[in-house]
Amino acid sequence: MTTDQLKELLIRARHEIGKVIIGQQAVIDLALITTITRSHALIEGVPGVAKTLLVRTLGRVFGGDTNRIQFTPDLMPADITGTNVFNMKDNSFTLIRGPIFTSFLLADEINRAPAKTQSALLQAMQERTVTIDRETHTLPSGFTVFATQNPIEYEGTYPLPEAQKDRFMFKIRMDCPNQEDELALAHRMLGDLSPEHVLESGAVEQVATTEDFLEFGRSLQGITVRDELVSYVVEVVRATRTHGSVMVGAGPRATQCLLLASRARAAMEDRDFVTPDDVKSSSTPVLEHRLILRPEFEIEGLSPQEVVAQILQEIPVPR
Ligand SMILES: Nc1ncnc2c1ncn2[C@@H]1O[C@H](COP(=O)(O)OP(=O)(O)OP(=O)(O)O)[C@@H](O)[C@H]1O
Ligand SMILES: [Mg+2]
Repeated sequence: MTTDQLKELLIRARHEIGKVIIGQQAVIDLALITTITRSHALIEGVPGVAKTLLVRTLGRVFGGDTNRIQFTPDLMPADITGTNVFNMKDNSFTLIRGPIFTSFLLADEINRAPAKTQSALLQAMQERTVTIDRETHTLPSGFTVFATQNPIEYEGTYPLPEAQKDRFMFKIRMDCPNQEDELALAHRMLGDLSPEHVLESGAVEQVATTEDFLEFGRSLQGITVRDELVSYVVEVVRATRTHGSVMVGAGPRATQCLLLASRARAAMEDRDFVTPDDVKSSSTPVLEHRLILRPEFEIEGLSPQEVVAQILQEIPVPR
């Protein structure tokens, strides 16, 4: 796939998703970047903002299966990955694949499951394979996880360790629709055009196949990043480690993610080169979940987003 084909595909994907999801453009763009870079994302948002619907729509547009796993305190690793079941009739084991064998996986409330179950998911995200009874199985090429977290105040939750959050390219915030979008949604619900109905009616076209996933990365290499911008990315990430209110900053994986996300964003804007704005607009979703603030600053109400904003203000933008 050429860079031009990828750019065209992204424009069509945006359009098709827009048939189902009203507004939420920034979220849709981040979800698309996550998809074409074969990454994974955390999604944060109040109930009912169409998180599930977005993942189902992505599956339709990219021609992949979607599954949803509700994480609970009693969920075992095998409930995700699958098990070998003994078959009496022919004296052999048959693999029953778990819900992880899919292209788009919505992992709902991952912090409600204990560490060993979270690890099974996170390991699969990293390796794109699953090991069941010492046998390794490859996951579909489009395997992309969107994970939601229950608000931390809940009892009986197991917050994701920072090291594991690093596996997610983005933290995507999904806010309630604005008034205009909510009104449009209300009108659609009144008619026979509910977003679910649109998705099920077949009005949404598929713009790619799961085989295309292996090509996206190569197409993105056609997007140039000037040396000054590479240095800028490195500087922004490194600044998170020395910022006065940060206890633990972003690791080197963040640099890689920020470069990749900036390239994908350029492609989405139909450009062959990355601009400083591509880097800036990707910085918050790439960095936010990787920072741990010093407790005294956290108590004062400082947020990781504000820290990223300060860093972007301080570092001179290459011209
Ligand atoms: N921006 C939007 N565009 C289209 N439909 C929307 C939008 N926001 C909300 N909806 C509607 O809201 C309903 C809830 O969507 P969905 O189940 O995907 O939410 P959710 O974020 O996954 O919620 P939960 O956190 O409870 O799982 C759906 O019926 C969907 O049609
Ligand atoms: Mg949901």
